[in-house]
Amino acid sequence: MADLTLWLEATGALAGAGGLGYAKVRAPRVYWSLVGLPVTWGRFTLSYRSTMDVCGLTVQPSGLRAFMTRNVARREVQPVPPKIRRVRGTSTGLRVTLRLPAGLEPADLIATTERLRHAWGVHSVTVAETKPGYVELRMTGYDVLRRVRMPRKARPRDLVVPVALREDGTAFERDYRKAPMALTLGANHSGKSMYQRNLIKGLAQLPVALVGIDCKRGVEQSAYAPRLSALATTPDDSASLLAVLVAEMGDRFDLLKTHGVSDLWELPAGTRPVPVVVLVDEVAELFLISSRKDEERREQIVTALIRLSQMARAVGIYLEICGQRFGSDLGKGATMLRAQLTGRVVHRVNDKQTAEMGLADIAPDAVPVASLIPMERPGTAVAADSSGGWSKIRTPETSREEVAAVCRAFAHLIPDLPALKPFRPFVPAEVPAAGPSLVKPHPVTD
Ligand SMILES: Nc1ncnc2c1ncn2[C@@H]1O[C@H](COP(=O)(O)OP(=O)(O)OP(=O)(O)O)[C@@H](O)[C@H]1O
Ligand SMILES: [Mg+2]
Repeated sequence: MADLTLWLEATGALAGAGGLGYAKVRAPRVYWSLVGLPVTWGRFTLSYRSTMDVCGLTVQPSGLRAFMTRNVARREVQPVPPKIRRVRGTSTGLRVTLRLPAGLEPADLIATTERLRHAWGVHSVTVAETKPGYVELRMTGYDVLRRVRMPRKARPRDLVVPVALREDGTAFERDYRKAPMALTLGANHSGKSMYQRNLIKGLAQLPVALVGIDCKRGVEQSAYAPRLSALATTPDDSASLLAVLVAEMGDRFDLLKTHGVSDLWELPAGTRPVPVVVLVDEVAELFLISSRKDEERREQIVTALIRLSQMARAVGIYLEICGQRFGSDLGKGATMLRAQLTGRVVHRVNDKQTAEMGLADIAPDAVPVASLIPMERPGTAVAADSSGGWSKIRTPETSREEVAAVCRAFAHLIPDLPALKPFRPFVPAEVPAAGPSLVKPHPVTD
């Protein structure tokens, strides 16, 4: 009997260990919640003081405190680390809010993240300033970008769309009110269209008009036709479509003038025109020309894009531009347009210059990070904006069919914009899926 119990216990223990090993590789989220989180939390609590001390993140206590320690508590005066205000476990890591003592700044912690990461045995540590005097240490227990799963709470709302996951486990959101115009760069097969696909999936659920410009004959965007208010698939169509958008911008400015306001969002809800997001897949197709006769068209397109990028924010027209490179080699107007695009997302690039085109003017320290994105991780990118902050992100793998289904489900949200009617893409009527016929055949002789 004792043998049997021992055998059962040993088999149980082995199966448990095997299961945990399997979970560690296959279901890191489960492994983290069951094993990683309690172990890391314990390690953090036990070694916090000594780790901060050896990392140079302590300060001498204030005069009064030192006096009380020496004379009342009769202890030796020791340097103090930042006070822990809150520790919170998440499904991807551990978040710790610290109150910084006088003499420490967030940059001091940022400089030691690599040492803290090793001290607590976590995958990554990032530091975010939550309010003056407070920072949040965001630790991740495993590589969250290996298989991306968006946080459950991340849902599209207002004009904010969660499109990717940040390295620290939080959602990267594209906020059109904060960064109205954006540029996405990346080499062939780096994940630009996947980024735009995720964006369309979120935008489709919001009350906005979606305008697609896909000069690769629409191979990417025509699947989303049920939710698009307009789609241009050739440079000629794009020129006409952009001219219509510029005219629409003019009309909207007239409307603002009539109401005596300077921004679309100040208009009363009933009269406010619906926001328009213009998604351009492969901008170079609009800039490059093969013959002299196309020059005029190029000029029209570039002028329209620059005008929209400079003024359209106030009337709720937003640009989302994708391209492989976007520098002066695209010709006149390219760098001027680029300067207007605040949000930047740079995927894997083939050369440092491309990373610099996207990031050098707003977040120069992110340039080497973008240049090091490995080929086997498509969808990984560096996202930055003009505030100087940047983060490493990766989009979730989303199929075109899934996004097309969302577009069909939200087709009723297509707003009524008469100016865009001529550009409305053709949507084939849904054919019922072929299946076995439910009609019983009757013999003709009956
Ligand atoms: N986040 C991701 N996770 C996994 N696979 C991805 C991800 N993003 C992209 N991929 C894969 O990488 C490949 C290229 O993606 P995508 O078509 O988006 O690249 P691209 O930059 O638009 O390329 P191109 O310049 O040729 O249009 C696709 O096969 C896609 O499935
Ligand atoms: Mg593409």
